[in-house]
Amino acid sequence: MTRIVDPRDADRADPALRPRNLDEFVGQVRIKENLRVYMRAAVQRGESMDHVLLAGPPGLGKTSLACIVAEELGVGIQTASGPTLERGGDLAAILTNLQPRDVLFIDEIHRMNRAVEEILYPAMEDFQLDIVLGQGPSAQSIKVQVAPFTLVGATTRSGLLTPPLLGRFGIHCTLDFYSPEELHQVILRAADRLGVTVEPEAAVELSRRSRGTPRIANRLLRRVRDFAQVEGHRAVDLEVTRTALERLEVDEAGLDKMDRRILETVALKFDGGPVGVENLAAAIGEERDTIEDVYEPYLIREGYLQRTPRGRVVTSRGRRQVGLPQAGPESLF
Ligand SMILES: Nc1ncnc2c1ncn2[C@@H]1O[C@H](COP(=O)(O)OP(=O)(O)OP(=O)(O)O)[C@@H](O)[C@H]1O
Ligand SMILES: [Mg+2]
Repeated sequence: MTRIVDPRDADRADPALRPRNLDEFVGQVRIKENLRVYMRAAVQRGESMDHVLLAGPPGLGKTSLACIVAEELGVGIQTASGPTLERGGDLAAILTNLQPRDVLFIDEIHRMNRAVEEILYPAMEDFQLDIVLGQGPSAQSIKVQVAPFTLVGATTRSGLLTPPLLGRFGIHCTLDFYSPEELHQVILRAADRLGVTVEPEAAVELSRRSRGTPRIANRLLRRVRDFAQVEGHRAVDLEVTRTALERLEVDEAGLDKMDRRILETVALKFDGGPVGVENLAAAIGEERDTIEDVYEPYLIREGYLQRTPRGRVVTSRGRRQVGLPQAGPESLF
């Protein structure tokens, strides 16, 4: 399996901007409140917290939240990623090295292979590993105890998790896109960290055009800062923000080139749809997984695109956004 490379994720400056605790983590209020209760309860009992599944599109804070859970529980964190855990032994080695109540963070947990997943079942349920020694009729199975731990799994596609794995998570959190007000807070905090002055209207403009995603908000802020610096502005103002976003091909609604390409392709090449995601992927030369994980969720959530049993359909809002006439009889005149 290839790692999905989010084209918006090319930035390496994120660690400095990552929220370190729940108070710094903007938005997702209900999730934070619930996690606070579960964490406090586990700490009071001196037990490991139940396993947590964090689901949601890229850049909404899953990895950040996993680190925060470990931080707030005051325990260590080991990290792994579904596709890189090739053999059961890889996971068994990590599990046997955990300290009591540690967090084990597995990113892209829907991309784990079956053999690895099966190691995880008894580990999640009974903190046990079933190790098979030898082969054939003389094979013996022994049980090895591991320290009680909290598995935090992250996924962009919880629908791809197998039912037995899904069922073993006691806490399910689905992260949603952020409101412009929440992104405004993210931007002000990042500006502070980066030591850049952002004028109020510029911060509002950026937060409106960040596609509901903190990672994108941070990335746009850094790019706009570059333009401001090179063009000799003392602060990030509205003018330089608009110029920079235009140069970055981010439109008024925060959609980028690929978002618009998807809408245009469905509207023009497929007559508005429905079109299957495979056909769409072939037509625009993008991976199917990237369309489903990275682009579609926001387009659907904002009502530009619809997912129907027969495929994707562009809405009238979607057409309008890319400057196309509305479908239907009126467009004939
Ligand atoms: N709630 C938040 N408050 C403040 N900043 C945030 C928040 N969520 C995310 N960020 C910022 O966005 C960046 C990306 O978040 P993170 O890496 O946690 O996303 P992710 O959901 O793990 O994405 P992926 O699916 O691509 O792994 C963080 O480094 C941080 O700077
Ligand atoms: Mg992540």
